Amino acid sequence: MNEDIRVGVFVCDCGSNIAGIVNVPEVVEYTKGLKHVAFADEGKWSCSVDYLAKMKELIKEHDLNRVVIASCTPRTHEPLFKRTVKEAGVNPYLLEFVSIREQVSWVHRADASKATEKAKDLVKMGVAKAVLLEEGEEIRLSVKTDCLVIGGGMAGMTAALNIADQGFHAILVEKESELGGLLNRLSVVSHDHVKLEAAEIVKAKVALVESHPNIKVYTNAEIEAVEGYIGNYRVTVRANGSNETFDASTVIVATGMQEIEPVGQYQYGSDPRVVTQVQLEGLLKGNEVGEVKDVVIINCVNSKNESRGCCTIGCSVSVKNALALKTLNKDIRVHILYRDLSMVREEGSNLETAKRAGVKFIRFPDDRYPEVTKEDGNLGVHVYDILLGKEFTIPSDLVVLTTGFKGDDTREAIKGHLKVSTNPDGFFQEAHIKLGPLDFPSDGISLCGCARSPKNLKDSCEEGAGAAMRASIPMKRGYLEAEGIVADIDLDVCNSCELCAKNCPYGAIKWVDEKPNVIKALCKGCGLCAADCPKNAITIIHYSDEQILAQVEAALEERPEEKIIGFVCHWCALGGVDMAGVSRLQYPPNARLIRVMCAARVAIKFIERAFELGAAGVLVAGCEFPTCHYISGNYAAEERVKRAKKRLKRKGYDPEKLWNIWCSAADGPKFANTMRDMVKELGLK
Ligand code: FES
Repeated sequence: MNEDIRVGVFVCDCGSNIAGIVNVPEVVEYTKGLKHVAFADEGKWSCSVDYLAKMKELIKEHDLNRVVIASCTPRTHEPLFKRTVKEAGVNPYLLEFVSIREQVSWVHRADASKATEKAKDLVKMGVAKAVLLEEGEEIRLSVKTDCLVIGGGMAGMTAALNIADQGFHAILVEKESELGGLLNRLSVVSHDHVKLEAAEIVKAKVALVESHPNIKVYTNAEIEAVEGYIGNYRVTVRANGSNETFDASTVIVATGMQEIEPVGQYQYGSDPRVVTQVQLEGLLKGNEVGEVKDVVIINCVNSKNESRGCCTIGCSVSVKNALALKTLNKDIRVHILYRDLSMVREEGSNLETAKRAGVKFIRFPDDRYPEVTKEDGNLGVHVYDILLGKEFTIPSDLVVLTTGFKGDDTREAIKGHLKVSTNPDGFFQEAHIKLGPLDFPSDGISLCGCARSPKNLKDSCEEGAGAAMRASIPMKRGYLEAEGIVADIDLDVCNSCELCAKNCPYGAIKWVDEKPNVIKALCKGCGLCAADCPKNAITIIHYSDEQILAQVEAALEERPEEKIIGFVCHWCALGGVDMAGVSRLQYPPNARLIRVMCAARVAIKFIERAFELGAAGVLVAGCEFPTCHYISGNYAAEERVKRAKKRLKRKGYDPEKLWNIWCSAADGPKFANTMRDMVKELGLK
């Protein structure tokens, strides 16, 4: 390295949040003695406007070309400090962030001296990495104004209209012969105490869509292929027997949902008098309910059980349809058999109306579902009433099953085309339930409505509008800026084994002239490829092997036998670490955490190096299954941990000293408990 490396370290007091436990002046003095550190300072509130201005001056005054910030958590404050160093003339990729609040002062309050030692180690690790940092740059992709909307139900139509009303172009692809989705099969919907004909709503919306000059509609159409990435998708649609290809810049998935048919249960399929809610809707809509006297509705069929959560709409649908039956004929006796009634907002008033109209509600226990019986051709429903403590049989000439839902059957094909994931309930998996509820991990693809989870009409339309807004942001701006944390392949070292291309969750590595080529616009920098590359030919910008190994080595320079090296993904695992901090959960101070973007980045050589240097233990922490911010990185990491254990054993290390956890960003207690358990099991003090 020819450049004169001059690292500036800024250690924050965070008022008394850090300085109340950590001896910050001692950390600053220690830092000044580290190689390449040209300047170190203590800031009372480092993120304050005043101190940021001072920081910029100090960077210039001391001619600093690397910056380490030791303060709160990069998850909240890194962008602010990146902007600051950039304004001071330093490339933001030359900034390293060290968390001494969430990882130190908030969680080791009982031992200030050990907390201070840990803070020194973390700063030393940050400096070790900073020295090796290289300049990077954001990747800018141009984005045009065509949006592909897959699914012509209410969410998809709402999305298309919102896109089109902004002057962009929407291409709406619907597999059925007409737009409207599930609503085409429903009779009435209720909203704000008003009953609305489903057909009227569909008709009005379809008229808007079909007359909009900025919307092109394909019906009877399926997606055949989607190539490319945001700003640059090439889409092939098969419509009415022939293929058509067009460009799109963004994609919205609104493929809807379907009932889980309870075939073979409750006489469904063998007796036509047993129907699902959607089938009842069809009967109500076609005025085909017939001369029924006793209707029994059974809720939570194949829903809210050990394999799937509450469908969230079944209770309100059952009450709405019970009322529809009563409206049809007030003398129909309607029973709703339920486990819990989850009714929200205005749906509650439907419940009161239904009770007043004479609908009977019977609660049954979770472990004792009603049974549909048939004697001499007569249907009955046998139920245990939890309140009366009695069981009895209700005669019935129509049984309605309120079933759970799953994503539409086209989801597997769409998943393959777009390289996105689904969850175990059969719906598309959003990037993050709170931070990116309408996004997929891949830029430029959003989702909405019942493709994401079951929801009512109002929520579907709201999500349709939301997804349109998400897609509109880059279309309005005309470009998308992606982080420059991407893979870089040294073709001189690469032996063309193709493992990286095979494993990349984003399909970002393409083969050109028998060599791998990273499409930077597609690469998210998870590091899965680099961690598994047998030739070590792949570098992840800002998370290179050298930088990570330098952190391991710095952490273990002194008393390695007391330390645990923890590799934590930036998203959920670090979120869990931060949550432990915010919750002030106290745990032993043995861990030295190294941030990676995804657990998939953790190469076996990092783990091995830690043990070579005498680490007491190693932890690999990533996102809870199935959610990984890089589609499937946590699964890859889990597999690699298993391989690492075998390798450690072969090399004479105790594989039991390698731990892994998968946690959500809210799992502070899980992280704190793991730390306590590790320290105990490893026999540390
Ligand atoms: Fe957390 Fe992949 S981002 S494990």
